[in-house]
Amino acid sequence: MSKPYVYITRQVPEQLVEPYREIANIGMWKHDDLPVDQETLEKEMAEADGIVTMLSDKVNEEILQKAKRLKVIANLAVGYDNLDLKVIENRGIVATNTPDVLTEATADLTFALLLATGRRLIEADQFVRQGKWKQWSPFLLAGSEMNQKNIGIVGMGRIGEAVARRAKGFGMEILYHNRTKKEEAEKELAAQFCSFEELLEKSDFVVCLTPLTDETKGLFNKDAFERMKQTAIFINVSRGAVVDEEALYDALVSGQIRAAGLDVFQQEPVDPNHPLLSLNQVVCLPHIGSASEETREAMIKLCLDNVTSVLQGKPPVTPIR
Ligand code: NAP
Ligand code: GLV
Ligand code: GLV
Repeated sequence: MSKPYVYITRQVPEQLVEPYREIANIGMWKHDDLPVDQETLEKEMAEADGIVTMLSDKVNEEILQKAKRLKVIANLAVGYDNLDLKVIENRGIVATNTPDVLTEATADLTFALLLATGRRLIEADQFVRQGKWKQWSPFLLAGSEMNQKNIGIVGMGRIGEAVARRAKGFGMEILYHNRTKKEEAEKELAAQFCSFEELLEKSDFVVCLTPLTDETKGLFNKDAFERMKQTAIFINVSRGAVVDEEALYDALVSGQIRAAGLDVFQQEPVDPNHPLLSLNQVVCLPHIGSASEETREAMIKLCLDNVTSVLQGKPPVTPIR
């Protein structure tokens, strides 16, 4: 029997792919830093038995019409808002994501963003490089400290809990909001469950780590920012569309909240002329939550394990539902 064909929509290191070539013929897009073009994707969709997709690939009804042989889609991300799951399920295709392997790396990045925004690290770095450091002074670039502050985690899942563990080590009080209570986290981390509104009102740092869904789209709107403390710092490592970016901009400019740390944007890559990028009190990152070498390797292997399992008639390792 001939081997199944698998396509990866980005170039990934050959040494990670090589062990799987025994099981499948594997093709990949020729660039590691550019998305696959539509024409190639359509052609590959028509031929592939399995595909590894990036979070920047939109897998919708239109593209799936080409997928005559496709049995499995492995998304190289834990979030899967780029996949139209209804259409995928209707076509009997298995979809998988990469939970757990990226939890600690993403929690590190979230906490780094919290510290960078709270203690104004990027502004401070630029201050030194731009030759503005003329003398030491008591309140030069003074920011917000972590100790004894309330961190409010909206979306207390795998990553949210890993952030909470870090926050505990920094002496923070932990508040959280989910649709369901997490008794374990409450015991282990002394985390307090709050309504969304209560969390916004009480938190010094508001951290969003929910998936993007119909329910969370635009969750952080004008009303949400108005409820926050004037000293509040907002951190988003979820998806850009959970935030009304205009409302966030207005809240920052009017001093309704103090600062924001953003790893994700509504439009990615973000336009360098985006109004939020003109503000010193915003720290912005290019969606690098899980971007450690160790984690990216683990994510790629997990995708290939998922694809090859399904193509060998075994259950997927980490199915989405
Ligand atoms: P997870 O374990 O599924 O956690 C998500 C949490 O969000 C759950 O605790 C869930 O609890 C809560 N939630 C879902 N809908 C909600 C709603 N409407 N209101 C309030 N809370 C809600 O997922 P994870 O592995 O921690 O990942 C979370 C998300 O982070 C991903 O979906 C992805 O979008 C994002 N992410 C971003 C990066 C990055 O590079 N920036 C990296 C990894 C992940 P309930 O079901 O009880 O509500
Ligand atoms: C990254 O954003 C992910 O969802 O894994
Ligand atoms: C600061 O450098 C101090 O010594 O307090």
